[in-house]
Formats: sequence, C-alpha cells, structure tokens
Amino acid sequence: MKPVRVGLLGLGTVGGGTFNVLRRNAEEIARRAGRGIEIVHAAAREYDPSGLPGIEAVTISDDAFAVVENPDIDIVVELIGGYEPARELVLKAIASGKHVVTANKALIATHGNEIFAAAQKQGVMVAFEAAVAGGIPIIKAVREGLTANRIEWIAGIINGTGNFILTEMRDKGRDFADVLAEAQALGYAEADPTFDVEGIDAAHKLAILASLAFGIPLQFDKVYTEGIGHITRDDVGYAEQLGYRIKHLGMTRRTAAGVELRVHPTLIPEKRLIANVDGVMNAVLVQADAVGPTLYYGAGAGAEPTASAVVADLVDVARTLTVDPENRVPHLAFQPDSLSDLPILSMDDVETAYYLRLCAVDRPGVLAEITRILGDGGISIEAVIQKEPPPGEQQVSVIMLTRRVREQQMNAAIAQIEALDTIEGTVTRIRMEHLGSE
Ligand code: HSE
Repeated sequence: MKPVRVGLLGLGTVGGGTFNVLRRNAEEIARRAGRGIEIVHAAAREYDPSGLPGIEAVTISDDAFAVVENPDIDIVVELIGGYEPARELVLKAIASGKHVVTANKALIATHGNEIFAAAQKQGVMVAFEAAVAGGIPIIKAVREGLTANRIEWIAGIINGTGNFILTEMRDKGRDFADVLAEAQALGYAEADPTFDVEGIDAAHKLAILASLAFGIPLQFDKVYTEGIGHITRDDVGYAEQLGYRIKHLGMTRRTAAGVELRVHPTLIPEKRLIANVDGVMNAVLVQADAVGPTLYYGAGAGAEPTASAVVADLVDVARTLTVDPENRVPHLAFQPDSLSDLPILSMDDVETAYYLRLCAVDRPGVLAEITRILGDGGISIEAVIQKEPPPGEQQVSVIMLTRRVREQQMNAAIAQIEALDTIEGTVTRIRMEHLGSE
C-alpha cells in the first residue's frame, strides 16, 4: 500500500524532531499504522539541513500555503505555532479535505471551537496530542483511557520552561534570566518566552484539558493566569522550611457553582509525587471518581518528546485512512500481519545489577575470597558494607551492590560463594534496576 503523504508546516525544533523520528522509526511506525507515513512536502523559510539527514528527498517551499494546497497531501502537520497564519492554514487544509495534526496549543485554545466545527463539517480529523504536556499522552488518557469516569479535577505542571526555571533557582540558586536563556537555547521556550513565564502557555494547555475533562467549549479567555516572575529564592526557601514546594500549577476543578480555571504559582506538600517533578519535566494529576488519582509524567517540551506526540497522532490518522473500520486500533498495537518473531530471553540471559547479602565468618581473607569469586566471574562491585558482628558472635553480614551482569554469571558466582566453608547459609540476592534512561 502507498504511504500516507504528509505536508509539514515548520522545520524548527519540533518540525525537525518530527522529521527525524518518522525517518528513524519508519519501519516500526509502518507496522503499527498499517502503511508508511512519509513527509513529502515541507514549508520553512530557514532551516538547518545538517541535523536532518534525508531532508533532500522532501520538497521544501518557503510558502506554507503551497503545502496546504498541494493535492498530493493527505495530512497537514502544523508546527509553525502562533495564532496567524496558523489558523488560516489549518482552516484551508480542512476546507480542502485534508486531515490536520497540530502541536499548536495557542491555536487550539483560542480558535479550537471554530476549527473543530469546520473539521466536523468536512469529516476530517484534527489531532492535537502534542499541544498539551509535550510527549505525555495526556489527551489520549483523558479522552479515551478515563472515559468511564466523572473527572473531578486536574492539576498539572504543564510548562517545562517555567518548571525548569523554578527547579534551577531552588537547586542551584541560579538567576531567573540566566536559566530562561538556557531554556531558550535548548528549544523548550516559546518563541515569545513571556508566554512561558507569565503562564499564558500553561493557560492555553489548561483550557484544552478542562474541555476534555468536563465537556465544555474551549474558554481560554476565562483562565485566571499568574506568572512566576514575582517568586523569589526566599519564597522557595521559606516554603521548603514549611514542608512545601512551589510549582507553577494549572488547576481546573468542577464545583457545584462552576468550573475553576486557573494557572498560578502554588505551594504543594513536598511528599506529593507531583511536587517532585523537576526540570523540564511535566506531570498531570487527574482526580476521577472511579479510578481515583492517576498521574502522568514525562518530558513536556523539546524536539523529540513533542515529535513523539505528533507522530502518534499521525499514526492515528493513518490508521483511519488505511485499515477496516472495525479493526482500527490493532489488538496488539501492531497490525496483525506485522507482528514479529523476536525471541524472549531466558532468565539466565537477562542482565541486571544485584544486591547481595551474605553471612560470613569474621576472619582475615574471607572478603578477599568472595571478591575473587565475583572478579573471576566478571562481576564488578559497586559498593560493600560489612556490619560489625554483635558482641561474642563470629559471623558478620556483608552487603554488596554489583554492576549489571548476566543472571547466569551471578548464579555461578553465588553457587561458589555458598560452597565456601566460611559462608553461613544461602546468599540473599535482590535484583536492582536504576531505571534511568541510559
Ligand atoms: N514552551 C513550552 C514549555 C513548550 O516550556 O512547556 C511545550 O509546549
């Protein structure tokens, strides 16, 4: 089947990320979508081809309308941001029967009602997962995963730049302006960074979340919005002394009298998970009647995290254009004829780090014997603790952390350690995972 043809408006941070992710993961994406997804035409006034291998195969125009009007294109991806000409371009794409994917929260929050009405009339999709909380699939979670619930409130750290600034001020005592400049250089900040620090970007996203949660039209103009500019390092310090963290929070709550829509710096008890969301990370906490609280966490800004959401929307649209309506979302995420036969590792071949606890006779050379067995087995030690034996006792507890090693090697080493006559009983082993992104 022919690939779905995509026109991309914008080759900046998110546009470049989208192009790279689509290209790098093309094969897996096609297995999920049921066909390939290819960017054939892009609009950009200026771009740097050095970070975009393969871009030479794409027609590049400096006029975005040329992409929207291209009859060969099935889906327009709008990543130029801002209100105009984004609104005009999106409405034009819809009018010509094209589906739209956008990361533009300002556009959806302020013109979404008009855009969705036009799309409904034309029978096309407008997908906007990347508009809220970057790479976190929060729209899918609220709109689909929580559909059984009556949502009571949503609280979110939904601006990565603001969270990055508050975190750096707290942890490193850095100046506001200096951190903001870094966020801009890293591609987190909006073209107009006052949108980040004054809370407008968060207010755009909150308006979208509130509509999805409560089934109300988009009402960005009713969001109470307060920025972080007046928060001092002293405020951050006093809040900490009292057991709180200051976070720039978007909050929407359904009350008997109406819906709260507000963005402002907020003290949150430090023991709450969401209070510990730092740096450019975002998190959205949803309180719903059946499931209770659920928390969604991840990168809220940046090239590839945002591209992750854009490409997910592209896959959703491609599926509706491709597969039979009764099997739009494949049961196992990949199309049934694209499942692959990857081997499942036996536990012997799995690699993890380990915590080991053993009981050893307290005499010279015992620890050396144990470390020799581990060393011969290719097992590297990260840390060792040896506890003082209780008065009158001969045995000591030795605790070790190891680096990652195959289970088979660890089994062999443990068997040899247990066979030493200086070791009492069996070795307790607990597998250890650092769960970082490395
Ligand atoms: N400027 C936004 C942020 C980008 O910092 O979160 C993602 O919407």
